Amino acid sequence: MMPVTSRENTIYIIDSDEYKSQLKNLPKDLDLPLLSSVDADKYPEAAKMQFKNGQWCVQLPASKTLVSVDFADVRIAARSQSLALNKEYIVRAVLGRKKHQQPLRVLDATAGFGQDSYLLAAAGCQVILIEHIPLLAYLLRQAVLRAANEASQLNTDAAKRMQVINGDSIALMQHWTDARPDVIYLDPMYAHPKDEQGKGLKKAAAVKKNMAFLQYLTRQQDAGLYGEGMIEAALALAASKVVVKRAPGAQWLGDIKPGSEISGKSARFDIYPTNNQ
Ligand SMILES: C[S@@+](CC[C@H](N)C(=O)[O-])C[C@H]1O[C@@H](n2cnc3c(N)ncnc32)[C@H](O)[C@@H]1O
Repeated sequence: MMPVTSRENTIYIIDSDEYKSQLKNLPKDLDLPLLSSVDADKYPEAAKMQFKNGQWCVQLPASKTLVSVDFADVRIAARSQSLALNKEYIVRAVLGRKKHQQPLRVLDATAGFGQDSYLLAAAGCQVILIEHIPLLAYLLRQAVLRAANEASQLNTDAAKRMQVINGDSIALMQHWTDARPDVIYLDPMYAHPKDEQGKGLKKAAAVKKNMAFLQYLTRQQDAGLYGEGMIEAALALAASKVVVKRAPGAQWLGDIKPGSEISGKSARFDIYPTNNQ
């Protein structure tokens, strides 16, 4: 039986008859405690994981909305249609103007919810996604698997170009033994939640929801989350460039000046050409 006192930042799985068969598929090393559905209300300040509409979702404390990783989401679907896709700043920043004979090999060192990676994969890039939060990496893998089996050809093709790795991207980039990625993409958290208020960063509700989830998960392990040491490792590895997503007006990552930038209303993409062989 679970202790009745809640553990901060724990994500409980609600043990429900509805999805009992799914529980056995969850990797043991995620180490998520099980909570009987009868006891669920006793833990109002803990997040809870449930299986809904064919996927695992997380409900944050004091919130009714569910957070998940889902490439079939209507907003992503709309952004990944070819006309819209070519106008995406991230696609323009990563692909540049040159026509590529081979698909670009992109390393997304801060995969998060995989939305940026998905847009790049939909645009034809081969993308390796690295995420160090084990639960998020698991949800990403599940989302890639679901997309690979979807009716939409675009989703299937994009999913086939995505590979998820759970680990610390800084260490992985420093000890990379494979072929160099052509482009490394970084989107570390903009700012510490404490500093973010008052900066006027405008975010859509869906982005706020995802950020709340990340902040819930990372409250006790801030070190290294905000990109320290990341750009240096990326600049030493990328064959042709590093692209960094920042909030408009935010300082350059690692205080390193980019070669150029593409700016939109909600984000700026700093571009650092590299020439590593
Ligand atoms: C702002 S989110 C990225 C959002 C993502 N671009 C998207 O489209 O959903 C930053 C993510 O990077 C991850 N991250 C930060 N430092 C990392 C590291 N050293 N290695 C792997 N992942 C890291 C965080 O856990 C978080 O999920």
